[in-house]
Amino acid sequence: MYVLKALKKPWLLLPPKLAHDLSSWGLPLVTLFHRGGTPQWQPLSWKGLHFQNPLGIAGGVDKNAEHLNSWWHLGCGFIEVGTVTPLPQDPNPGKIVDRDLNLEAMWNKMGFPSAGADEVFYNLRLHSEDLKTPIFVNIGKNRQTANENASDDYLFLIEKFKAHADAFVVNISSPNTQGLRNLQGKEQLTQLLLPLLKKAQEIQKPLLVKLSPDMPEEQFVESVQTCQLLGVDGLVLTNTSLSRPTDCHFPNEGGLSGKPLKDLSKKALQLAVKSLGDKRKDMLIVSVGGIMTPEDVFERLQMGADLVQIYSALIFYGPQFFHDVARRYDGGQ
Ligand code: FNR
Repeated sequence: MYVLKALKKPWLLLPPKLAHDLSSWGLPLVTLFHRGGTPQWQPLSWKGLHFQNPLGIAGGVDKNAEHLNSWWHLGCGFIEVGTVTPLPQDPNPGKIVDRDLNLEAMWNKMGFPSAGADEVFYNLRLHSEDLKTPIFVNIGKNRQTANENASDDYLFLIEKFKAHADAFVVNISSPNTQGLRNLQGKEQLTQLLLPLLKKAQEIQKPLLVKLSPDMPEEQFVESVQTCQLLGVDGLVLTNTSLSRPTDCHFPNEGGLSGKPLKDLSKKALQLAVKSLGDKRKDMLIVSVGGIMTPEDVFERLQMGADLVQIYSALIFYGPQFFHDVARRYDGGQ
């Protein structure tokens, strides 16, 4: 089984970190076989943005905005770049990425490795003009910035990218930056978001918040409702999880992605849709986590997501995912 899967997807034969590092070289090559551009299916217009289709890449896939044109050719309806931090920073020490082929699961403890705002700005400026696909910039604080000063980092990034981002995603849900998830609590969230929302309104760019799947139900609903009350434009649900399936060899720390995240991510979507109810209005919900097949994409859209994103499916299914979903949609799902 393992060998069969790996023969069809040779990158699965490489050690995870090496495969990850080589993807920067491999992606432009793969793109040569997919020159069709982004297909149109279930298009969406929202706050002046036009999405040819609702399927995009998740935060972390193109951290430094190096492959914007490739994603468009591969069929992304929108592209989220980042997480970008103000200053460049290295990954956490030691092993930072792993995968489990049988579980179709990924594990990472990267901790926002970023080329930093200057370099990502340069990459975005180079490509964003000719792209017809909305670009979300996922922003995070540097690890040495204390939570009390986190809004300074996020404000700096919004100012920096205001000309090239179509929307911002405030990442406060990575398990790999110490204390970051505390910013999701009602009080800290309010303190953090008020100045960010003021800034986003000034520059007329939507601001989304990415939440964790690990909060107890009550706390998750409180975070969702706080976002809605404050006037956040959308939610990205969800980041990786600290939970583990029983038969899993990953370490306790670090974030779990892929198939075992599916139920948690679906639960978060369901809770958000239900708790927002009529108050949701045009609040955008992006569902991410455990979307491994075209059927999973359609299921999330039916459950009430406006947009969906993938990361692990790129590894276990392959970069043809986007065009396969479009074909399946045209064929009546
Ligand atoms: C991620 N993810 C992530 N999210 C984010 O907001 N900023 C980031 O920098 C990263 N980095 C990152 C690296 C790696 C190696 C993985 C596997 C994941 C989380 C990602 O965006 C997504 O929320 C989860 O991976 C769940 O989606 P999938 O993988 O189940 O489709």
